[in-house]
Amino acid sequence: MSQRTLVLLKPDAVRRGLIGEIVGRIESKAGWAITALELRTLGRPLLEQHYGEHADKPFYPPLMEFMTSGPSVVMVVEGERVIEGMRALAGPTDPIAAAPGSIRGDFGTIVRENLVHASDSEESAERELKLFFPEAV
Ligand code: TYD
Ligand code: MG
Repeated sequence: MSQRTLVLLKPDAVRRGLIGEIVGRIESKAGWAITALELRTLGRPLLEQHYGEHADKPFYPPLMEFMTSGPSVVMVVEGERVIEGMRALAGPTDPIAAAPGSIRGDFGTIVRENLVHASDSEESAERELKLFFPEAV
């Protein structure tokens, strides 16, 4: 089943020079394709919509601070079961709990600075793609 998902390489990944490494892992997956890719400093209004479900959490203010701290890579990835697949490639939210071989498991230690975002369901993907690429629909 071919799907589309939103992937962000967060400001820590860009600052650390990991764009090529992470994009390479995504590109090497058979049957997946990156169909949009842009370097963009994300603004608070967009991020407030993106992370609205976390607005009441204690980690929300520092998360906003971090996510606006520099450019991110914003991508659309398309392909076979890519929503579930990108979540697996990223690994769990806490990089210390993420297995080596996953992006977070290989490069992260801090929960907030966990390198990558990938939509967590078909509904989230549809909502987030509209939010980040409103012109594409
Ligand atoms: P969440 O949606 O739970 O994780 P995921 O990115 O795996 O879908 O949380 C969104 C982001 O918020 C997460 O990637 C990093 C940050 N975060 C924290 O800074 N502290 C926390 O305790 C949690 C749960 C998340
Ligand atoms: Mg999430």
